Amino acid sequence: SQTVARGADGVVTVGGIPVTRLAEEFGTPAYILDETDFRARARAWRTAFGPEADVFYAGKAFLSRAVVRWLHEEGLNLDVCSGGELATALSAGMPADRIAFHGNNKSEDEIRRAVTAGVGRIVLDSFQEIVRVAHVARELGTRQRVQIRITVGVEAHTHEFIATAHEDQKFGIPLAGGQAAEAVRRALRLDGLELIGIHSHIGSQIFDMSGFEVAAHRVVGLLREIRDEHGVELPEIDLGGGLGIAYTSADDPREPHEIAKALTEIVTRECEAARLRTPRVSVEPGRAIVGPTAFTLYRVGTTKPLDGLRTYVSVDGGMSDNIRTALYDAEYSVALVSRSSDAEPVPARVVGKHCESGDIVVKDAFLPADLAPGDLIAVPATGAYCRSMASNYNHVPRPPVVAVRDGEARVIVRRETEEDLLRLDVG
Ligand code: LLP
Repeated sequence: SQTVARGADGVVTVGGIPVTRLAEEFGTPAYILDETDFRARARAWRTAFGPEADVFYAGKAFLSRAVVRWLHEEGLNLDVCSGGELATALSAGMPADRIAFHGNNKSEDEIRRAVTAGVGRIVLDSFQEIVRVAHVARELGTRQRVQIRITVGVEAHTHEFIATAHEDQKFGIPLAGGQAAEAVRRALRLDGLELIGIHSHIGSQIFDMSGFEVAAHRVVGLLREIRDEHGVELPEIDLGGGLGIAYTSADDPREPHEIAKALTEIVTRECEAARLRTPRVSVEPGRAIVGPTAFTLYRVGTTKPLDGLRTYVSVDGGMSDNIRTALYDAEYSVALVSRSSDAEPVPARVVGKHCESGDIVVKDAFLPADLAPGDLIAVPATGAYCRSMASNYNHVPRPPVVAVRDGEARVIVRRETEEDLLRLDVG
């Protein structure tokens, strides 16, 4: 659904606007976000899950006030995981009861702000937090709706998953050893809390649905234990996010309606087997909604052919606007977008301007042999976890996010300036 096309002159347009004009008007590097595509993907998720389920967009992937408004208009809910994300959501008018508040170490101040605002749910991540949230809610004279995040012993990554009894990581309360059952016991006892469900998030960039199957089986197993022990059927389960997108042509992601169908069937089947009322299901896709909707537009500064190896193409950004290649060995593609070229494609590596040899944006690519300083190149699928994980390494200001729609472009997050950086330096 992305509105990207290449004109007869070789110039790529997005939402009807040539990238050459975007570069002129907004400078480079810049994240160019296709609003039409974003809304279409958000709507596809919303429609696929229907009125019996909820879709919480995971704000950590990318959050700004414009994005919050689009989500609100398209009927999605929002998952936030810090006071900063909560403030952004509230300031853009997302109704608090459509916000879920996550995190493994929410501060008491953050908890107080969330409870005061009236967020729809707080996802409890530890025994201490169960007590902490209950205490704040009582103090504020209210009952907070909560879910408990459990770890089900499923590690899912891309095309594989591993199901074990234990999971060695910081999030959630282990199902193993009866810890999750004990957490439920405590939460049910505290009158500041209204326990509405169980939460599980198994990983990210997942294509294989069988990890969700094992997770759902184990979560429903806990719901059954809870019913047997307490006589309570919890009304909700959240299966988290983590659905994969295509970074390169090697990836073949599933459509939201296939995912919705698969997840709904799994939960229904498991609940029938356990003779439980089917709970309301929610999911938290971040990457799958925003990832494909943006590309990063860079200008080539230098090209350096190394004999028998490859050409190093230096751009005006780098690991400060996309840390994923350096951090996760993530794969991206790249294309020349400001003109056409008949030159032979040669092995190339797109690197940034930072003082670090690991500052790589696209590790293995082919770019035309005549690529030259001044050319514009674009790296697709940078909508998720790029601007949101951007840094100021080497005091490089962070790029803007430009939203494009129906032939119009507008800045939704402005470019940082050196003045912005200096303002924080008060020594
Ligand atoms: N829900 C929970 C509880 C999560 O922890 C996450 C992601 C999501 C939802 C959204 O996952 P998504 O659908 O976007 O995969 N920085 C890494 C990804 C970290 C994801 C952390 N949690 C990356 O750039 O690949």
